[in-house]
Amino acid sequence: MVDNHAKTMGKAAGQASGAPRRPYVLGIETSCDETAAAIVSADRQILAHRVLSQVDDHAEFGGVVPEIAARQHISHLDKLLKSLMKDASMGFEDMDAIAATTGPGLVGGLMVGVMTAKAIAAATGKPFVAVNHLAGHALTVRLVEDIIFPYLLLLVSGGHCQILEVSGVDRFTRLGTTIDDAAGEAFDKTAKLLGLGYPGGPAVEAAAKDGRAARFRLPRPLVGKPGCNFSFSGLKTAVRRLAEDCVAHHDVVTIEDRNDICAAFQETLGDCLIDRLENAITMFRETHGAGKFPLVVAGGVAANAYLRGRIETLAEDSNMYFSAPPLTLCTDNGAMIAWAGLERFVANADINDMDEAPRPRWPLDETAKPMVGKGKKGTKA
Ligand code: KG4
Ligand code: ZN
Repeated sequence: MVDNHAKTMGKAAGQASGAPRRPYVLGIETSCDETAAAIVSADRQILAHRVLSQVDDHAEFGGVVPEIAARQHISHLDKLLKSLMKDASMGFEDMDAIAATTGPGLVGGLMVGVMTAKAIAAATGKPFVAVNHLAGHALTVRLVEDIIFPYLLLLVSGGHCQILEVSGVDRFTRLGTTIDDAAGEAFDKTAKLLGLGYPGGPAVEAAAKDGRAARFRLPRPLVGKPGCNFSFSGLKTAVRRLAEDCVAHHDVVTIEDRNDICAAFQETLGDCLIDRLENAITMFRETHGAGKFPLVVAGGVAANAYLRGRIETLAEDSNMYFSAPPLTLCTDNGAMIAWAGLERFVANADINDMDEAPRPRWPLDETAKPMVGKGKKGTKA
């Protein structure tokens, strides 16, 4: 486990200082391989936050092992919460609501977070607020900036790649989604193939900095086609072929080859995101008109500086206002769950989700047609 709590979240523009304003909400995140928790206040202060990353525990397997993740959450969550409350000089009874990621995610981990949050809620008599992990990513910009609804959102993480219209705390309309792999998954698979380890995103980004994207031409699935859906599985296959070609020519993938492949991959993925976002902006404007609306990028892949830069340029060229959470709030963290919980709590004063059970699948737009498949448990997010 790597304790990242010392990493400062920074004080984002617009974030208040001074005595925090109620309500105060504790948020717990255990849906994947981060054990995280935070306390936020209504005036957008992060009163305390801790993240324990399990990256080292999963690295040798090249991806997250659900059983290991669940066991690590069980071992560490109570100690993490104790430290968190100490950091904030607060007790559970000082909270106004207790929130936890209730889905989508790995069910073992979700159960640990939800059961812990419900136990704290029951013991203190505070309401439990069920938070959709994706809503956490989607609403985080409002924790750091005055972003008002509606806005256009590109949500790019390890498990998801979607474009959504966000018109309220609980109102999401999906304009497009991936028909196969998520963007972060494409980064992770590329990294694994090139021996760069897990998680792949930061490693591929670092390698790409020294690479020449122009050396290789990779396919750009769905680019130029109508709609806003994505497809990245062909890209992954093409990366594998490039690596095999390099081996066929000079027995190994040299560092230079690897950097060039990463640069080409990242640029191609950027081209796909921009093309789909252009169509989404047109669709968004058909509903909302020509005003200067926010274009938001969120989720782990939004930590990628190259992609952020390209999306920011697109926003400028399209008369949209670009916004993205600071890097520490892009990847999974407790503040995003506490904040989404606070938003739901403020919007529904009588909320209490004690009857909600963990949901491995939980799409933000429940009316949207499933693209990645519909299993026994419902629509895959
Ligand atoms: O949002 P997140 O922390 O977890 C999920 O909800 O999936 O996203 C994790 C994903 C991983 O696939 C990781 O490789 C990717 O975000 N990621 C990045 C970067 N940092 C994390 N992808 C590209 N560039 C980065 N700098
Ligand atoms: Zn996430």
